Amino acid sequence: MVPKVKTHNTPEDACREVADEIAELIEARRALGGMAVLGLATGGTPVRLYRELVRRHREEGLSFANVTTFNLDEYLGLTREHPESYWHFMHHHLFDHIDVPVERIHLPSGTVAEEEIDAHCAEYEEAIRAAGGIDHQILGIGRTGHIGFNEPGSAIDSRTRRVGLDGITREDAAAAFGGLEHVPTHAITMGCGTILEARRISLLAWGAKKAEIVKRAVKEPVDDRVSASFLQTHEAAVFHLDRDAASRLG
Ligand code: PGA
Repeated sequence: MVPKVKTHNTPEDACREVADEIAELIEARRALGGMAVLGLATGGTPVRLYRELVRRHREEGLSFANVTTFNLDEYLGLTREHPESYWHFMHHHLFDHIDVPVERIHLPSGTVAEEEIDAHCAEYEEAIRAAGGIDHQILGIGRTGHIGFNEPGSAIDSRTRRVGLDGITREDAAAAFGGLEHVPTHAITMGCGTILEARRISLLAWGAKKAEIVKRAVKEPVDDRVSASFLQTHEAAVFHLDRDAASRLG
């Protein structure tokens, strides 16, 4: 299947469109007295989207009171307070500035004991199911083609689990951690199968640095060396790109 690609003039344009979709979902559910379930991502890519959602909350009264969130992943070995933890990232960029109820925010734990990791991952899956599944999943894409931390070799039906991080992924994080030796080696991530169960998926990618991996994910056959290529099998997955990220699509 050829995945849907939308090329935007700027990342801001892309983020406005995805924010429109999120706002419509939240408001449609509220009108029926229901919840909207968002799957959220970290990294530099979605920061502009979160900024736009915060702006809408502040300036336009968009309420997140009927929203439940599940993040894709968390580094193992980092406390919530660690400045590079995804817990910290999400609160800093989004949760501290909107009215989402704290009890409806979900991220995998970075500090769960080794022997409890499997049970923790199973509970995360169960919490997603109990919430009714993810309505709209936001994704970035790593230079390894990962979605969440599903590095090359992850199976299309993989579930939430402990994973080792690819060397390229750790290098890309080294500056933020003040050196490669400080970058965690493992994480907990939703699996590709978990992600593909979302009813709608928006993968965001900006900049020339992502052009090659975007091309592989979009144009080349589905392959477990590029987890994002699995989105080709999803009926409602859209790659939202800026011009530079789309530059190799021809
Ligand atoms: P980035 O990371 O948004 O910081 O480029 C994307 C990813 O690794 O999924």
